[in-house]
Amino acid sequence: MLIHIPQVLSQQVVKNLRTVLENAGQAWVDGRVSAGYQGAPVKSNEQIDEQSSVAHECQSIIAAALESNPLFISAALPNALYPPMFNRYGEGMGFGLHVDGGIRLHPHDGRKFRTDLSATLFLSDPESYAGGELHIQDTYGTHSAKLPAGDMVLYPSTSLHKVTPVTQGVRLACFTWVQSLVRDDGDRTLLFELDNAIQQLNITNADSQARSALVGTYHNLLRKWSDV
Ligand code: NI
Repeated sequence: MLIHIPQVLSQQVVKNLRTVLENAGQAWVDGRVSAGYQGAPVKSNEQIDEQSSVAHECQSIIAAALESNPLFISAALPNALYPPMFNRYGEGMGFGLHVDGGIRLHPHDGRKFRTDLSATLFLSDPESYAGGELHIQDTYGTHSAKLPAGDMVLYPSTSLHKVTPVTQGVRLACFTWVQSLVRDDGDRTLLFELDNAIQQLNITNADSQARSALVGTYHNLLRKWSDV
C-alpha cells in the first residue's frame, strides 16, 4: 500500500528545518556513502552525515512528529523508526531505479534493522524545483509523488523506485524506514482498512456492541500477525 500522509510538519517547522539544513556546510556528504552495490552506481545526490549534530537535531523533530501522527501510526504500525536522513538533489542529480536494502545496520548501536516501509518527507516546495519526482512501482503500475513541503509518502520497501533528475532548483527531502510490527504489506493493509472502518463507525455512533466486536477482531489480528 502506498499512502500520502499530509502535513506531517507545519510550514513553520519545514522552514526552520530548511534553514538548518541549508547552513549545514561540511555535514553534507556524497549520498553514495549509504548506498549498496546496486544503488551506488545510479545514485547522485548529497546527504547529511548520519553522525553529525545537524542530523541528530533534525532527526528528533521528524521522529516526534511521526510518533504523534495517527495516520502514520495506523498505516505503518511502527515497531522502530530508522533515524531519519536528509538529502538534496541539485541540478542534474537523481537516483535511478533500485530497491532499498532489506536489512540496514542501525547507526547508533549497529543492530540489524529490517526495512518494511520506506518514507520520503518532502521539504522543498514543489514549485521551487523542476524534475525530482519520486516514481514508485507496484503491481498496479508506476506512481509519481512530488508532494507539498511537509507531506510524506509511505510505501512498501519491496517496491522498485527512483528519483527523476532535478533539472532546475534544489530538492531537499527527509527519508527514513520503518520496521513494522506487521512485516507483510498485505496484512498491514487489511489492518489499516479495518482501523479506518472502525474510526468511521465511531464517528457515526454505530451500534456499540458491534463496534466492540470489530475492535476485538482488530486486536486479535494484530496479535496474530505482529512480531515484537
Ligand atoms: Ni531508495
